[in-house]
Amino acid sequence: MSILFTGATGFLGSRLLYALLVEEGREVTALGRGTPAALRARIVTSLAGLAGGPLPQAALDRLHCLVGDVSRPRLALPPAHYSRLAGRTTAVWHSAADISLSAPLESLRGTNVDGTAHVLEFAEYAGQGCRVTHVSTAFVAGRRRRGCVAETGLDDSAGFETPYEQTKFEAERLVRAWAERGHRPVTVLRPSVLVTGSRPDPGEPQHPLGELGLGAASLGGGVLEEVTGHVRLPLPPGGTLNVVQVEYAVQAMLRLAARAPVRPGVHTYHVVHPVDTPVRLLLEAIEDRYPGLRLEEVERVPDPSTAETLIAAQLPDFLWKYCTHRRGYERSGLLSLVPDLADPPPLDASYVRAALGYGPAPHDVTRTRVTV
Ligand SMILES: NC(=O)c1ccc[n+]([C@@H]2O[C@H](COP(=O)([O-])OP(=O)(O)OC[C@H]3O[C@@H](n4cnc5c(N)ncnc54)[C@H](OP(=O)(O)O)[C@@H]3O)[C@@H](O)[C@H]2O)c1
Repeated sequence: MSILFTGATGFLGSRLLYALLVEEGREVTALGRGTPAALRARIVTSLAGLAGGPLPQAALDRLHCLVGDVSRPRLALPPAHYSRLAGRTTAVWHSAADISLSAPLESLRGTNVDGTAHVLEFAEYAGQGCRVTHVSTAFVAGRRRRGCVAETGLDDSAGFETPYEQTKFEAERLVRAWAERGHRPVTVLRPSVLVTGSRPDPGEPQHPLGELGLGAASLGGGVLEEVTGHVRLPLPPGGTLNVVQVEYAVQAMLRLAARAPVRPGVHTYHVVHPVDTPVRLLLEAIEDRYPGLRLEEVERVPDPSTAETLIAAQLPDFLWKYCTHRRGYERSGLLSLVPDLADPPPLDASYVRAALGYGPAPHDVTRTRVTV
């Protein structure tokens, strides 16, 4: 039983790989970019970071790293490698993607859509017994704002907020067509925004909350160091986001993949938090870090101050749209398949502060303050 795993150097991917390789004792070939030595070094370093020390030799022996590229035909593998790999692969986990939320559609399609097509071709070549697990996103629901998104649903009638979610939708559509055409079972996992409260080491993949513009590395970006007083942010008052702890998501995903039905067709599961997180909680985490700063979400910011202009420029357009979603996600498939996994706890202020990268305010910090 050998798994082909794509996306092993990613934030979620590295954690899934760790769980499969170390916790479940599986044999895994991690396909990724770079030179053979650099790829293995990156993967082993990030796994050691997750383990809190060197990996057991047995786990290292079960890990094979293979240079390839999902966006290229036959995964950019030489024919002999492709055949050999297919001959020993009994399962594929496809986690690789370009998650740059606002990158252009065409460049995202190369990785997210063509890449998925190439992985499916590989699984077909590997034979009927090769089981596919495809990592998608809850955001394939696109611009739909209300109601409950069904696990079986895949509907683009509302359009999309970002090119990223459009390409993940297109990839899921390919997966469905492939499963139906070949009478194959595929497990599709749809996580929402993933975070961790434990700060990754610099060598480990960083979580992508920064893409939303609220993390210390983005909104912090030097601007907040200079600001105090009342700052209006162009964000919908009362906005929420579905943010889920990656540690819970990984456990849910592994159990779902192991227990999903083997009958042909796609079996799709939302891996989301049962309760949305108020954006206010994220803003309070920032206020805690910068005492004296008061952030207010407002529909419009007339006559913005210099600081308000600078801060607004760091918030991507799609953040506003995401915060206005009032939809829920069906979790009945997940709850019936993994009743033994407790729901994740609600995110609290200290977790959110750590997740956003705002450590406790150091006592000795001397900051220039600008009152706005
Ligand atoms: N992170 C989230 O909040 C989140 C939420 C919902 C869904 N998801 C989905 O979860 C999956 C994993 O996300 P993640 O957090 O691990 O993302 P990530 O940290 O951005 O990692 C992306 C991974 O894909 C690999 N990759 C990108 N292009 C590739 C290519 N052409 N060939 C081979 N590998 C390539 C990257 O390799 P390099 O290191 O070489 O770039 C990296 O290993 C994705 O499918 C994503 O859509 C993520």
